[in-house]
Amino acid sequence: MQSKISQYTTEIEAFEPKTAEDLERFRIRFLGTKGIIKDLFDEFKSVSAEEKRVLGKVLNQFKQSAEAKFNAFKDDFTEQTNATNKEDLTLPGEGFQIGARHPLSLVRKQIVEIFKRLGFVLAEGPEIEDDWHNFSALNFPEEHPARDMQDTFFVQKPTGTESDEDTKQEAFALRTHTSSVQVRLMEARKPPFRALMPGRVYRNEAISARAHCFFHQVEGLYVDEKVSFADLKQTLYYFVQEMYGEGTKVRFRPSYFPFTEPSAEMDISCTICKGAGCPMCKQSGWVEILGCGMIDPNVLENVGIDSKKYTGFAFGMGIERITNLKYQIKDLRLFSENDVRFLKQFETEVI
Ligand code: PHE
Repeated sequence: MQSKISQYTTEIEAFEPKTAEDLERFRIRFLGTKGIIKDLFDEFKSVSAEEKRVLGKVLNQFKQSAEAKFNAFKDDFTEQTNATNKEDLTLPGEGFQIGARHPLSLVRKQIVEIFKRLGFVLAEGPEIEDDWHNFSALNFPEEHPARDMQDTFFVQKPTGTESDEDTKQEAFALRTHTSSVQVRLMEARKPPFRALMPGRVYRNEAISARAHCFFHQVEGLYVDEKVSFADLKQTLYYFVQEMYGEGTKVRFRPSYFPFTEPSAEMDISCTICKGAGCPMCKQSGWVEILGCGMIDPNVLENVGIDSKKYTGFAFGMGIERITNLKYQIKDLRLFSENDVRFLKQFETEVI
């Protein structure tokens, strides 16, 4: 055993690796889990106690010299490899992924641009609303189903902070529509108004391909002297031509909203089959895109505007719906999953 060790020691002393591979071969041969040193230690177990005293020391020294040799060159080679990588500027870059603008942001931008051309300015309001701005000022009767726990997410006040003042205030909720921003705007300023109010809204719905617990709306408001239903029709007709292309037909169907009178829903000729009938429009040739109407005089009076002098119209549309009709997206959940493979498909469509 001793002679084997001295033979290996000469080999180790003479060893001079030229490449990282040489060094790796050395490591496997001597220091590897099935290498020479492991074998020697196994052999060492079966020698006599007397021999052990001498051999133990020799064997340990041998192991240390093999490790020292390996360590001496290890750093050289790792440094060398790094240095080569750093210096070779001709190597192709790694390339990194950049994100994409969200289709809902792109479409919101398009909607805003169109209405800006008609003189509409942007306005915003809070997502956590009180009953007055979301419902009462908008003429919702006390027992209206939209106030029901089914549709509205109520927000609990933090416990422990309740003062007498707080307990007197009514419940807070996540706004169920952007019509609440109309109220805030009309309370804060004097007519005339021509404003567009995009924002996120919340409804307590089970999440599926066709419904989500939050979505996005754009609210429009126009209040002045002598604003008529004809103004409303022409404004929305212009919007549709700009958004979906000239020749897209519109139709208004009578409807009901507590805050508009008369109220209507507007349909456009199906963007997919152009009115011929397809699954998207359920073979009818028409798809609904928004709700609208003349602002109910009660609402104007609620916010301190003289309803004898001023009239106005309002409309509200879902950005998801406008986007679906433009790009034929069949599952609403895609909008909130943030999968870049989905998001990247829309970028080229920026105006
Ligand atoms: N707020 C209504 C909704 O969410 C839409 C609407 C807005 C209708 C303005 C008429 C006027 O369904």
